[in-house]
Amino acid sequence: MQKYLDKIICGDCIEVLGEIGEPFADLIFADPPFNIGYKYDKYDDNQKKENYIAWTKEWMSVCRKVLKPHGSFYIAIGDDYAANVRVIADELGLVMRNWIIWHYTFGQQTNDKFARSHTHIFYFVNDRSNFTFNDYAVRVPSDRQLLYNDKRANPAGKMPDDVWNTYSRVCGTFKERTGWHPCQMPESLLKRIISASSNPGDCVLDPFSGSGTTAAAAYQLSRHYIGIEISEQYVENSTRRLDELKNKKNDGQKSALNEIEEFKRLSIDMGKPLNEITENKNLIKIFANQFAVRMKNEKKYSEQDILMLSSKCRNFRD
Ligand SMILES: C[S@@+](CC[C@H](N)C(=O)[O-])C[C@H]1O[C@@H](n2cnc3c(N)ncnc32)[C@H](O)[C@@H]1O
Repeated sequence: MQKYLDKIICGDCIEVLGEIGEPFADLIFADPPFNIGYKYDKYDDNQKKENYIAWTKEWMSVCRKVLKPHGSFYIAIGDDYAANVRVIADELGLVMRNWIIWHYTFGQQTNDKFARSHTHIFYFVNDRSNFTFNDYAVRVPSDRQLLYNDKRANPAGKMPDDVWNTYSRVCGTFKERTGWHPCQMPESLLKRIISASSNPGDCVLDPFSGSGTTAAAAYQLSRHYIGIEISEQYVENSTRRLDELKNKKNDGQKSALNEIEEFKRLSIDMGKPLNEITENKNLIKIFANQFAVRMKNEKKYSEQDILMLSSKCRNFRD
Protein backbone atom coordinates (compact mmCIF):
# COMPACT_ATOMS: atom_id res chain seq x y z
CA MET A 1 0.00 0.00 0.00
CA GLN A 2 2.77 2.41 1.04
CA LYS A 3 4.44 1.94 -2.35
CA TYR A 4 1.47 3.63 -4.09
CA LEU A 5 1.39 6.69 -1.83
CA ASP A 6 1.93 10.11 -3.50
CA LYS A 7 2.18 8.56 -6.93
CA ILE A 8 0.21 8.38 -10.15
CA ILE A 9 0.08 4.67 -10.89
CA CYS A 10 -0.21 3.45 -14.46
CA GLY A 11 -2.90 0.76 -14.71
CA ASP A 12 -6.53 -0.20 -14.78
CA CYS A 13 -8.14 1.07 -11.57
CA ILE A 14 -10.23 -2.09 -11.17
CA GLU A 15 -7.09 -4.24 -11.22
CA VAL A 16 -4.92 -1.95 -9.09
CA LEU A 17 -7.58 -1.40 -6.41
CA GLY A 18 -8.54 -5.09 -6.55
CA GLU A 19 -4.91 -5.93 -5.69
CA ILE A 20 -4.88 -3.52 -2.72
CA GLY A 21 -8.29 -4.79 -1.59
CA GLU A 22 -8.32 -3.14 1.86
CA PRO A 23 -9.63 0.23 3.09
CA PHE A 24 -7.00 2.98 2.82
CA ALA A 25 -8.75 6.01 1.24
CA ASP A 26 -10.20 8.79 3.41
CA LEU A 27 -11.63 10.43 0.31
CA ILE A 28 -12.23 9.23 -3.25
CA PHE A 29 -12.92 11.55 -6.15
CA ALA A 30 -13.84 9.72 -9.37
CA ASP A 31 -14.37 11.45 -12.71
CA PRO A 32 -14.75 8.49 -15.10
CA PRO A 33 -15.12 8.78 -18.87
CA PHE A 34 -18.82 9.66 -19.47
CA ASN A 35 -19.30 7.37 -22.51
CA ILE A 36 -19.94 10.31 -24.79
CA GLY A 37 -17.25 9.69 -27.38
CA TYR A 38 -14.42 11.83 -26.00
CA LYS A 39 -11.04 11.18 -27.55
CA TYR A 40 -8.69 9.76 -24.93
CA ASP A 41 -5.19 8.51 -25.54
CA LYS A 42 -5.99 4.90 -24.62
CA TYR A 43 -9.57 4.43 -23.42
CA ASP A 44 -12.41 4.03 -25.97
CA ASP A 45 -15.26 6.28 -24.81
CA ASN A 46 -17.89 4.62 -27.03
CA GLN A 47 -19.11 1.59 -25.11
CA LYS A 48 -22.43 -0.24 -25.40
CA LYS A 49 -24.77 1.14 -22.76
CA GLU A 50 -25.11 -2.18 -20.88
CA ASN A 51 -21.33 -2.72 -20.86
CA TYR A 52 -20.70 0.80 -19.58
CA ILE A 53 -23.23 0.33 -16.75
CA ALA A 54 -21.73 -3.07 -15.79
CA TRP A 55 -18.26 -1.51 -15.80
CA THR A 56 -19.48 1.42 -13.66
CA LYS A 57 -20.77 -1.05 -11.11
CA GLU A 58 -17.44 -2.85 -11.12
CA TRP A 59 -15.24 0.21 -10.51
CA MET A 60 -17.66 1.67 -7.94
CA SER A 61 -17.55 -1.66 -6.04
CA VAL A 62 -13.74 -1.79 -5.89
CA CYS A 63 -13.65 1.86 -4.81
CA ARG A 64 -16.15 1.09 -2.05
CA LYS A 65 -13.86 -1.73 -0.81
CA VAL A 66 -10.86 0.59 -0.42
CA LEU A 67 -12.83 3.42 1.21
CA LYS A 68 -12.23 3.71 4.96
CA PRO A 69 -15.31 3.30 7.22
CA HIS A 70 -15.54 7.07 7.79
CA GLY A 71 -14.62 7.87 4.16
CA SER A 72 -16.29 10.06 1.55
CA PHE A 73 -16.77 9.20 -2.11
CA TYR A 74 -17.48 11.87 -4.76
CA ILE A 75 -18.40 10.90 -8.32
CA ALA A 76 -18.62 13.28 -11.29
CA ILE A 77 -20.90 12.04 -14.05
CA GLY A 78 -22.85 13.36 -17.06
CA ASP A 79 -26.64 13.39 -17.57
CA ASP A 80 -26.73 10.09 -19.48
CA TYR A 81 -25.60 7.88 -16.59
CA ALA A 82 -26.26 9.95 -13.45
CA ALA A 83 -29.38 7.93 -12.61
CA ASN A 84 -27.42 4.67 -12.96
CA VAL A 85 -24.68 5.88 -10.61
CA ARG A 86 -27.31 6.83 -8.04
CA VAL A 87 -28.94 3.37 -8.20
CA ILE A 88 -25.60 1.50 -8.06
CA ALA A 89 -24.55 3.57 -5.03
CA ASP A 90 -27.76 2.51 -3.26
CA GLU A 91 -27.05 -1.13 -4.07
CA LEU A 92 -23.55 -0.76 -2.61
CA GLY A 93 -24.93 0.74 0.61
CA LEU A 94 -23.42 4.19 0.08
CA VAL A 95 -25.25 7.07 1.72
CA MET A 96 -25.94 10.11 -0.46
CA ARG A 97 -25.32 13.47 1.24
CA ASN A 98 -25.58 15.79 -1.75
CA TRP A 99 -26.39 15.63 -5.43
CA ILE A 100 -24.31 18.61 -6.54
CA ILE A 101 -24.65 20.35 -9.88
CA TRP A 102 -21.48 21.91 -11.19
CA HIS A 103 -22.72 24.69 -13.51
CA TYR A 104 -19.70 25.62 -15.57
CA THR A 105 -21.25 28.28 -17.85
CA PHE A 106 -18.89 27.59 -20.73
CA GLY A 107 -20.50 24.60 -22.44
CA GLN A 108 -20.25 23.27 -25.98
CA GLN A 109 -22.37 25.27 -28.38
CA THR A 110 -25.46 23.68 -29.96
CA ASN A 111 -27.99 24.71 -32.61
CA ASP A 112 -30.84 22.26 -32.10
CA LYS A 113 -31.11 22.03 -28.29
CA PHE A 114 -30.08 23.99 -25.21
CA ALA A 115 -26.34 24.00 -24.59
CA ARG A 116 -25.22 21.59 -21.88
CA SER A 117 -23.50 23.49 -19.10
CA HIS A 118 -23.43 21.24 -16.05
CA THR A 119 -22.02 18.04 -14.58
CA HIS A 120 -23.48 16.03 -11.71
CA ILE A 121 -21.25 15.47 -8.70
CA PHE A 122 -22.51 12.93 -6.19
CA TYR A 123 -21.30 13.15 -2.63
CA PHE A 124 -21.62 9.81 -0.81
CA VAL A 125 -20.31 8.55 2.53
CA ASN A 126 -19.87 5.08 3.94
CA ASP A 127 -21.38 5.85 7.33
CA ARG A 128 -24.23 8.36 7.72
CA SER A 129 -23.08 9.50 11.17
CA ASN A 130 -19.28 9.23 11.01
CA PHE A 131 -17.53 11.25 8.31
CA THR A 132 -15.25 14.27 7.90
CA PHE A 133 -16.92 17.53 6.97
CA ASN A 134 -14.97 20.75 7.63
CA ASP A 135 -17.64 23.38 7.17
CA TYR A 136 -15.34 26.24 8.24
CA ALA A 137 -13.04 25.47 5.30
CA VAL A 138 -15.69 25.98 2.64
CA ARG A 139 -18.07 28.61 4.05
CA VAL A 140 -18.58 31.74 1.94
CA PRO A 141 -20.06 35.18 2.70
CA SER A 142 -23.86 35.21 2.42
CA ASP A 143 -26.08 37.60 0.45
CA ARG A 144 -27.15 39.05 3.79
CA GLN A 145 -23.51 40.12 4.23
CA LEU A 146 -22.62 40.96 0.63
CA LEU A 147 -25.81 42.57 -0.68
CA TYR A 148 -28.20 43.48 2.09
CA ASN A 149 -25.89 44.60 4.88
CA ASP A 150 -28.23 42.70 7.20
CA LYS A 151 -27.17 42.64 10.87
CA ARG A 152 -28.81 39.23 11.31
CA ALA A 153 -26.20 37.69 8.97
CA ASN A 154 -24.19 34.84 10.47
CA PRO A 155 -20.65 36.30 10.82
CA ALA A 156 -19.23 32.87 9.93
CA GLY A 157 -20.81 33.12 6.46
CA LYS A 158 -22.97 30.41 4.91
CA MET A 159 -22.49 26.97 3.44
CA PRO A 160 -22.21 27.05 -0.37
CA ASP A 161 -25.32 25.83 -2.20
CA ASP A 162 -25.40 22.47 -3.97
CA VAL A 163 -25.31 24.26 -7.33
CA TRP A 164 -21.68 25.29 -7.86
CA ASN A 165 -21.30 28.13 -10.30
CA THR A 166 -18.06 29.86 -9.43
CA TYR A 167 -15.80 27.29 -11.14
CA SER A 168 -15.37 27.73 -14.86
CA ARG A 169 -14.25 24.83 -17.03
CA VAL A 170 -10.51 24.95 -17.69
CA CYS A 171 -10.49 26.92 -20.96
CA GLY A 172 -7.67 26.93 -23.49
CA THR A 173 -6.43 30.33 -22.36
CA PHE A 174 -6.09 29.44 -18.64
CA LYS A 175 -2.60 29.14 -17.12
CA GLU A 176 -3.78 25.99 -15.32
CA ARG A 177 -4.59 24.29 -18.66
CA THR A 178 -2.21 21.42 -19.38
CA GLY A 179 -3.10 21.22 -23.07
CA TRP A 180 -2.67 17.47 -23.43
CA HIS A 181 -5.82 16.12 -21.71
CA PRO A 182 -9.31 16.50 -23.23
CA CYS A 183 -11.26 17.08 -20.01
CA GLN A 184 -9.19 18.58 -17.24
CA MET A 185 -11.16 19.56 -14.11
CA PRO A 186 -10.42 22.89 -12.37
CA GLU A 187 -8.18 22.62 -9.31
CA SER A 188 -10.44 25.04 -7.42
CA LEU A 189 -13.38 22.62 -7.58
CA LEU A 190 -11.23 19.77 -6.28
CA LYS A 191 -9.91 21.99 -3.51
CA ARG A 192 -13.44 22.62 -2.22
CA ILE A 193 -14.12 18.88 -2.08
CA ILE A 194 -10.77 18.01 -0.52
CA SER A 195 -10.93 20.83 2.06
CA ALA A 196 -14.45 19.85 3.12
CA SER A 197 -14.11 16.08 3.18
CA SER A 198 -10.55 15.35 4.34
CA ASN A 199 -7.90 16.62 6.73
CA PRO A 200 -4.21 17.36 6.19
CA GLY A 201 -2.29 14.06 6.11
CA ASP A 202 -5.32 12.07 4.85
CA CYS A 203 -5.16 9.95 1.72
CA VAL A 204 -7.11 11.08 -1.38
CA LEU A 205 -7.65 8.57 -4.18
CA ASP A 206 -8.53 9.37 -7.80
CA PRO A 207 -9.09 6.15 -9.80
CA PHE A 208 -9.37 8.09 -13.13
CA SER A 209 -6.53 10.51 -12.63
CA GLY A 210 -6.35 11.99 -16.16
CA SER A 211 -4.28 15.16 -16.04
CA GLY A 212 -3.64 14.70 -12.29
CA THR A 213 -5.90 17.51 -11.04
CA THR A 214 -6.99 15.69 -7.87
CA ALA A 215 -3.39 14.82 -7.01
CA ALA A 216 -2.27 18.41 -7.65
CA ALA A 217 -5.03 19.83 -5.45
CA ALA A 218 -4.43 17.24 -2.71
CA TYR A 219 -0.70 17.95 -2.68
CA GLN A 220 -1.24 21.71 -2.40
CA LEU A 221 -3.57 21.11 0.56
CA SER A 222 -1.02 18.83 2.31
CA ARG A 223 -2.93 15.60 1.77
CA HIS A 224 -1.44 12.36 0.44
CA TYR A 225 -2.66 11.27 -2.95
CA ILE A 226 -2.92 8.18 -5.11
CA GLY A 227 -3.90 8.58 -8.74
CA ILE A 228 -4.57 5.70 -11.13
CA GLU A 229 -4.56 6.24 -14.88
CA ILE A 230 -4.65 3.78 -17.75
CA SER A 231 -2.69 5.89 -20.26
CA GLU A 232 1.11 5.81 -19.90
CA GLN A 233 1.28 9.17 -21.66
CA TYR A 234 -1.10 10.83 -19.17
CA VAL A 235 0.80 9.26 -16.26
CA GLU A 236 4.08 10.63 -17.54
CA ASN A 237 2.64 14.11 -18.13
CA SER A 238 0.75 14.32 -14.84
CA THR A 239 3.76 13.07 -12.89
CA ARG A 240 5.65 15.98 -14.43
CA ARG A 241 2.82 18.33 -13.38
CA LEU A 242 3.21 17.11 -9.79
CA ASP A 243 7.01 17.35 -9.91
CA GLU A 244 6.78 20.96 -11.04
CA LEU A 245 4.46 21.75 -8.12
CA LYS A 246 6.79 20.02 -5.68
CA ASN A 247 9.80 21.96 -6.97
CA LYS A 248 7.86 25.19 -6.60
CA LYS A 249 6.86 24.31 -3.06
CA ASN A 250 10.46 23.58 -2.15
CA ASP A 251 11.54 26.84 -3.65
CA GLY A 252 11.18 29.04 -0.57
CA GLN A 253 7.39 29.22 -0.83
CA LYS A 254 6.54 26.46 1.60
CA SER A 255 5.84 28.39 4.78
CA ALA A 256 3.65 31.02 3.12
CA LEU A 257 1.78 28.56 1.00
CA ASN A 258 -1.05 27.58 3.29
CA GLU A 259 -2.25 31.14 3.89
CA ILE A 260 -1.80 32.10 0.23
CA GLU A 261 -3.52 28.93 -0.90
CA GLU A 262 -6.54 29.59 1.31
CA PHE A 263 -6.62 33.23 0.29
CA LYS A 264 -6.81 32.38 -3.42
CA ARG A 265 -9.37 29.69 -2.76
CA LEU A 266 -11.68 32.08 -0.92
CA SER A 267 -11.62 34.69 -3.68
CA ILE A 268 -12.46 31.99 -6.28
CA ASP A 269 -15.21 30.52 -4.08
CA MET A 270 -16.73 33.99 -3.75
CA GLY A 271 -16.68 34.37 -7.53
CA LYS A 272 -14.92 37.71 -7.17
CA PRO A 273 -11.51 38.63 -8.57
CA LEU A 274 -9.01 39.86 -5.99
CA ASN A 275 -8.87 43.41 -7.40
CA GLU A 276 -12.66 43.76 -7.04
CA ILE A 277 -12.32 42.77 -3.37
CA THR A 278 -9.35 44.97 -2.59
CA GLU A 279 -10.93 48.06 -4.18
CA ASN A 280 -13.96 48.00 -1.89
CA LYS A 281 -13.58 48.62 1.86
CA ASN A 282 -16.79 46.82 2.76
CA LEU A 283 -15.79 43.77 0.72
CA ILE A 284 -12.35 43.72 2.33
CA LYS A 285 -14.01 43.64 5.75
CA ILE A 286 -16.31 40.78 4.80
CA PHE A 287 -13.43 38.94 3.12
CA ALA A 288 -11.16 39.42 6.15
CA ASN A 289 -13.82 37.99 8.43
CA GLN A 290 -14.48 34.97 6.20
CA PHE A 291 -10.77 34.38 5.75
CA ALA A 292 -10.30 34.26 9.52
CA VAL A 293 -13.08 31.62 9.69
CA ARG A 294 -11.28 29.56 7.01
CA MET A 295 -8.03 29.87 8.99
CA LYS A 296 -9.89 28.43 12.01
CA ASN A 297 -10.09 31.85 13.69
CA GLU A 298 -6.49 31.55 14.85
CA LYS A 299 -6.04 35.28 14.34
CA LYS A 300 -7.89 38.38 13.15
CA TYR A 301 -7.02 39.93 9.76
CA SER A 302 -6.96 43.71 9.32
CA GLU A 303 -7.58 45.57 6.07
CA GLN A 304 -3.80 45.98 5.82
CA ASP A 305 -3.23 42.22 6.23
CA ILE A 306 -5.69 41.52 3.41
CA LEU A 307 -4.05 44.02 1.07
CA MET A 308 -0.63 42.58 1.84
CA LEU A 309 -1.77 38.98 1.33
CA SER A 310 -3.46 39.95 -1.90
CA SER A 311 -0.26 41.39 -3.36
CA LYS A 312 1.68 38.29 -2.21
CA CYS A 313 -1.02 36.20 -3.82
CA ARG A 314 -0.51 37.90 -7.17
CA ASN A 315 3.21 37.10 -6.96
CA PHE A 316 2.54 33.45 -6.12
CA ARG A 317 -0.11 33.10 -8.83
CA ASP A 318 1.96 30.94 -11.22
C1 LIG B 1 -12.76 12.20 -17.42
S1 LIG B 1 -11.08 11.81 -17.45
C2 LIG B 1 -10.51 12.35 -15.88
C3 LIG B 1 -10.05 13.77 -15.91
C4 LIG B 1 -9.49 14.24 -14.58
N1 LIG B 1 -10.52 14.43 -13.59
C5 LIG B 1 -8.71 15.54 -14.75
O1 LIG B 1 -9.04 16.56 -14.12
O2 LIG B 1 -7.76 15.55 -15.53
C6 LIG B 1 -11.08 10.07 -17.28
C7 LIG B 1 -9.72 9.41 -17.34
O3 LIG B 1 -9.86 8.03 -16.98
C8 LIG B 1 -8.88 7.27 -17.68
N2 LIG B 1 -9.31 5.85 -17.63
C9 LIG B 1 -10.24 5.23 -18.38
N3 LIG B 1 -10.40 3.95 -17.96
C10 LIG B 1 -9.58 3.77 -16.92
C11 LIG B 1 -9.33 2.67 -16.05
N4 LIG B 1 -9.96 1.50 -16.19
N5 LIG B 1 -8.43 2.83 -15.05
C12 LIG B 1 -7.77 4.02 -14.90
N6 LIG B 1 -7.98 5.10 -15.71
C13 LIG B 1 -8.87 4.97 -16.70
C14 LIG B 1 -8.85 7.93 -19.06
O4 LIG B 1 -7.64 7.68 -19.72
C15 LIG B 1 -9.03 9.42 -18.70
O5 LIG B 1 -7.80 10.08 -18.59
